[in-house]
Amino acid sequence: MKRAKISIIGAGNVGATTAHCCVSAELGEIVLLDAPQSGDMPKGKALDLSHAAAVAGSDVRVLGTTDYADTAGSDVVVIAAGAARTPGMSRNDLLATNARAVDSVAGEIKRSSPDAVVIVVTNPLDAMTYRAWRATGFPPQRVLGEAGALDGARFRACIAEELGVSVEDVSALVVGGHGEAMTPLPSCTTVSGVPVGRLIPAKRMAELIRRTRQFGTEIVLMLKTGSAYYAAAAATAMMIESIVRDKKRLICCSAFCDKEYGVGGCYIGVPVVLGAAGVERIVEIEFSPSERDSFCKSVEAVKAVVEAMDQSYPSPRAC
Ligand code: 2OP
Repeated sequence: MKRAKISIIGAGNVGATTAHCCVSAELGEIVLLDAPQSGDMPKGKALDLSHAAAVAGSDVRVLGTTDYADTAGSDVVVIAAGAARTPGMSRNDLLATNARAVDSVAGEIKRSSPDAVVIVVTNPLDAMTYRAWRATGFPPQRVLGEAGALDGARFRACIAEELGVSVEDVSALVVGGHGEAMTPLPSCTTVSGVPVGRLIPAKRMAELIRRTRQFGTEIVLMLKTGSAYYAAAAATAMMIESIVRDKKRLICCSAFCDKEYGVGGCYIGVPVVLGAAGVERIVEIEFSPSERDSFCKSVEAVKAVVEAMDQSYPSPRAC
């Protein structure tokens, strides 16, 4: 059986940890690429990862490189390039630096892997996913952003801790942009099928939602030199698995919504069916009035960032 080829652009914390998760789960051949000025760093990390594969009994090859030719014909490409925020910064403060990084990476992907599904992890997430879509010119089904899987995992962890139950039994969705206006959905959250509203009072739930929105910042404040990466990498690998194994999992991702949810042409976190073709379907669900209100505010916030980005740093390609 032909193995999937998965290229990860950016061999920093998120990229290398995503590679590790993919190696451990034996998802396919991995190419870990970083910029030429990184020298032999991606090769060193790839060599280390190939030894981690041996420990895991995983028969995958890992190649470290600075040359996009090595990524040619990838099935999935992850964009994990660009800067991470440090204390005092919002994700939007990374806009200028990371828009340029994403433009350059997306141009290379378009040339080397024209049929790939592209997963963006670079922040500010929804704006960078839009940027990658514009710069590749790929159909929107093949360009998506990792956020809802991470934010959903954080919400699940928070609820499991609150109730003292296994996180395995908590199922939850978080929609909207990957920012402080993200929208955890209590109406779609259950514990072994029990609606969470029967287990946690609304006032306490509002506190857990506030904490979920702040987890990224909480971690940045403790790390000081960068942002969280273990959970983002694990979430990205979960999305890659659904694509390369065509599992068709229902996962919240930043996806291009036009008519869906009445969004009108914007990348935003929504539940999607993720399979070999990328975003195979956007699943529309009914939100409660307060969830709808929060989602709409989040859409407006993402649109404002994209508009500011398009004005200040015009995209290399107009759709
Ligand atoms: C986070 O929320 C880095 O945006 C990422 O931790």
